[in-house]
Amino acid sequence: MPKIAPSFLSADFSQLEHQIREVEKSGAEYIHLDVMDGHFVPNISFGPLVVDAVRKKTDLVLDVHLMISYPSQYVQAFADAGADILTVHVEIEENVPSLLGQIQDAGMKPGATLKPGTAIETLFPLLPQLHLALIMSVEPGFGGQSFMPESLVRAQALKAEINRLGVHTEIEIDGGIDVENAREAVQAGVDVLVAGSAAFRGGNIIENVAAIRQAGLG
Ligand code: DX5
Ligand code: ZN
Repeated sequence: MPKIAPSFLSADFSQLEHQIREVEKSGAEYIHLDVMDGHFVPNISFGPLVVDAVRKKTDLVLDVHLMISYPSQYVQAFADAGADILTVHVEIEENVPSLLGQIQDAGMKPGATLKPGTAIETLFPLLPQLHLALIMSVEPGFGGQSFMPESLVRAQALKAEINRLGVHTEIEIDGGIDVENAREAVQAGVDVLVAGSAAFRGGNIIENVAAIRQAGLG
């Protein structure tokens, strides 16, 4: 069964606690939190302070997606804020394998992700270190964009390499996921479906997550 990770980029932050309760009731497994620095991506969202606020209100897995240029100086801050999974982009200038080690040493589960234009093979040598491998199915930076169907082939290739290596890395997909493409993503090997606009649309979080899960099951 696919896990569902509602992305709080589409949440109503004026009702943060209410939104967290609805996500809990929906049965979603993760809360996906998108951190943007206005440099790695053109948008700015939030940082460890908000992760900490969410942590105080829930025991759900906090899946933090860092879209920032220099993550190493913030690893400890996200650990202190209560992040469970910390995912970094492979396109940054920092040394990614040592960063993943730093995340592990800080007591979090390391994840890595890549933009749609970055070769999927870039993730392969990192797989033994990775709890999570995230395929971006839109250009990172904004919610509400259309799913890029070529992401499915990338998921298949990643799944094949995970099986070949015999590792247990989860595959997550992020961007434009909805009831129309959830099934194809799961069939391509995806374990975790991130959904922003599709999960929060109309404020009907419980119904929306149920619909995405149902679609994912086929
Ligand atoms: C985009 C973020 C996504 C975003 C997804 O850069 O990484 O997590 O919230 O939103 P939707 O599901 O609306 O594409
Ligand atoms: Zn994300």
